[in-house]
Amino acid sequence: MRHLTRLADIGPAGAASLIERARTIKRASPPPRFAGKILVLFFLAPSLRTRVSFQVAMLRAGGSAVVVEAGSGIWPLETRPLAVMNEDRVEHLEEAVGVLGRYGDALAVRAFATLESDPVDLEDPLVSACRDHSPVPVISMESAAEHPAQGLADLMTVIEAHGSPRGLPVMLRWAPHVKPLPKAVPHSFLLTAAALGCRVTVAAPEGFELPQAVLNQAREWARRGGGDVTTVHDPRALADRQAAFCVKSWGAAGFPATHPVAGRHADWMVDADWLALTPPDCILLHCLPLRRNVEIAQDVLKSPRCRIFDEAQNRIFVQQSALEWLWGLRP
Ligand code: CP
Repeated sequence: MRHLTRLADIGPAGAASLIERARTIKRASPPPRFAGKILVLFFLAPSLRTRVSFQVAMLRAGGSAVVVEAGSGIWPLETRPLAVMNEDRVEHLEEAVGVLGRYGDALAVRAFATLESDPVDLEDPLVSACRDHSPVPVISMESAAEHPAQGLADLMTVIEAHGSPRGLPVMLRWAPHVKPLPKAVPHSFLLTAAALGCRVTVAAPEGFELPQAVLNQAREWARRGGGDVTTVHDPRALADRQAAFCVKSWGAAGFPATHPVAGRHADWMVDADWLALTPPDCILLHCLPLRRNVEIAQDVLKSPRCRIFDEAQNRIFVQQSALEWLWGLRP
């Protein structure tokens, strides 16, 4: 049974193939056919884009989507594998997943990082449990470790702007925030860009390095694809050489929740002065939601180089492409 909760489930060749198919779907030739299919969207964390784009991906292809939200109309969920359930949590995640898998043809799951420890978040305990206990394929809507649909949509948007990603210089650029954020989105941008052979620079303040295991995987894929991965600690370094920037905040290295970030590194905000350093044809991505005038100055959002809406729209097509693969409708 196929699952897609991390990029390694499809590998570099699969990532390229899903994006190519997503671009074909966007041109509407031929549209995917999900008639009779039901996708159950199981949210253990909130969402706007992921929720609606998965629903639209199904509806536009003739299928259906059912939304189930923890904390809203279902029994309080226990997620600890060995819990003695003698308190207020009524249903265990494992039974919930087993049941939802009897109702749908695939299960889409969102469960965020706890931010207590990078190593624990990289093990992806909740989405791994869903994979283990679901009788149908599982697709990630963002887990503790990765957000593969976002990474694929990001690179699709880069390819639309610049063509072949092989050897293309792209930057994953940290931005300030009022609180520590998960690393799933930066992981997925880094891994997907590396898998496609980009020359990736990760720019973040000291103390905000991404986990070594993720950097190692990205370096290995980049090396195989003709790219590389570099890290810098200066918000202006190499800004004049990039074709695309993925702007994102994330928590500090190691044990992110113990590192308050409010008000720190405000000079990393993306503003018009910084944008003036960058090449005139470079594009800016941000997965959204974003904190205006904290992460990115609002005038920058009006720049034609800011492609946040294309990026959000492309989620529909990469998810249709991914669901085709998940259901074996394509090799
Ligand atoms: N980019 C993204 O996943 O947005 P949501 O959290 O709103 O789904």
